[in-house]
Amino acid sequence: MKTVIISNRLPVKIIEENNEYTFIPSEGGLATGLGDVYKSGNSIWIGWPGIEVPEERQEEVTQKLAELNLYPVFLTQNEINLYYEGFSNEVLWPVFHYLVTYANYEQSYWDCYRSVNEKFAKSAMHVLDRKDKIWIQDYQLLLLPGILREKLPNATIGFFQHIPFPSYEIFRLIPWREELLNGLIGADLIGFHTYDDVRHFISTATRLLPVNSSSNVLNSHERQIVIEAFPMGIDFDKFSDLPVTEKVKKEIDYFRTGKEEMKVILSIDRLDYSKGILERLKAMELLLQEHPEYIGKIELFMIVVPSRDTVPQYSELRDQIDQFVGNLNARYRSINWIPVNYFYRSFPIEVLSALYSTADICLVTPMRDGMNLVSKEYVASRNHEDGVLILSEMAGASKELTDAVIVNPNNIGDIMEAIVTALKMPLEEQQQRMKAMRAIVEKFNVKHWVNNFILRLNEVKDSQKSLLT
Ligand code: UDP
Ligand code: G6P
Repeated sequence: MKTVIISNRLPVKIIEENNEYTFIPSEGGLATGLGDVYKSGNSIWIGWPGIEVPEERQEEVTQKLAELNLYPVFLTQNEINLYYEGFSNEVLWPVFHYLVTYANYEQSYWDCYRSVNEKFAKSAMHVLDRKDKIWIQDYQLLLLPGILREKLPNATIGFFQHIPFPSYEIFRLIPWREELLNGLIGADLIGFHTYDDVRHFISTATRLLPVNSSSNVLNSHERQIVIEAFPMGIDFDKFSDLPVTEKVKKEIDYFRTGKEEMKVILSIDRLDYSKGILERLKAMELLLQEHPEYIGKIELFMIVVPSRDTVPQYSELRDQIDQFVGNLNARYRSINWIPVNYFYRSFPIEVLSALYSTADICLVTPMRDGMNLVSKEYVASRNHEDGVLILSEMAGASKELTDAVIVNPNNIGDIMEAIVTALKMPLEEQQQRMKAMRAIVEKFNVKHWVNNFILRLNEVKDSQKSLLT
């Protein structure tokens, strides 16, 4: 009996160079969080390898991935455009992050979303055994639990959503709202990062579908569906062990040499309008205006990982960031200092670890975020218990990391004040806060998250069986 994980994106993606395919780790919380643990259990993972693979090379890719227990679902360019960029990232992503004016309710997106969810079901049916546990991940596959339930009425199906679930008033705007919910409740257990997401989902489902709820259980026809919060964790040991490895020590030397007195503020995100990147830059600008004493003494190290840049709002955001950083740097820079060190690329984990473990402040200001693993990775990397985390109250992580300096990301003045507070914070207070946060991130790590979800899924299934007997 194995666990079959199904997500839109596999934990590795293909890059093509000179007609050669190589696999590299995928970015984003789902892939980085689950990417290591799935290997340790008896699991396989079904998903898209990230590019369009021509038919004649699909067998080669399938074979290479099988060595890693990964099974590809190949998407055509049309499916990438309509299902992935279209419905997933121009409808569901903006609406679930409360940016309803960004949504583009195209019928062709919806039609393709449905057919690609069917395609994932078909691929899953090839590798599923009767007793396998099925664990579906995230908003790209909301219909899959229902499709698989029809094919396998007794299957054990869990679903976890990595992004927020919005309030009913927001969700009801989607033209295909009932179909989406009906798809989701094909699962036995539905997990979200926070209790607020659970609440929103239950109130939405009971208003839009003929189901009723008692506490966190939905009753639909003969089936019961359990809805619960499972805040995702990270591999604490990995991030805590990395800074003492030779490779990372070298990177640390490289960054800090010549910058011993500089206060470094770190920000790491995928390119996304939900991450509050422009607001962060505006706070930095305000800080330099209001507190010129920090000119030449602080530096924002800003990594933006390319993501979904074929979706118009993403490419526009990229242009806006480029422009803002350019203006800010031009205005404030000197011969040997620039306020914002901006990188539009991804980095290997050793470089990320060097940055996490040496930055004085980590600035995480999403407008909305399901969890935000970057904030937890920073905390896990602080073996000396120093450093200050500034965290948006709109990130799921703020429910657990209550010892961070919490900010409202819409309030630029508040973010600026938080940076000043962090710059001035005595070491003792930094350590007090960091110690408390490290204890939480260490205890509720990603293994704990996986075990908890699977354990609960088993319990839910067992209780359904006993209801039937
Ligand atoms: N990340 C990465 N490469 C990079 C920068 C970041 O793999 O160059 C990872 C980072 O370590 C984190 C993930 O991307 O695990 C981002 O997850 P998060 O939950 O913060 O946000 P998401 O991208 O899922 O919205
Ligand atoms: C978030 C989503 C994931 C997604 C990741 C990267 O973490 O919750 O489902 O995989 O972003 O985005 P991408 O569109 O590149 O898969």
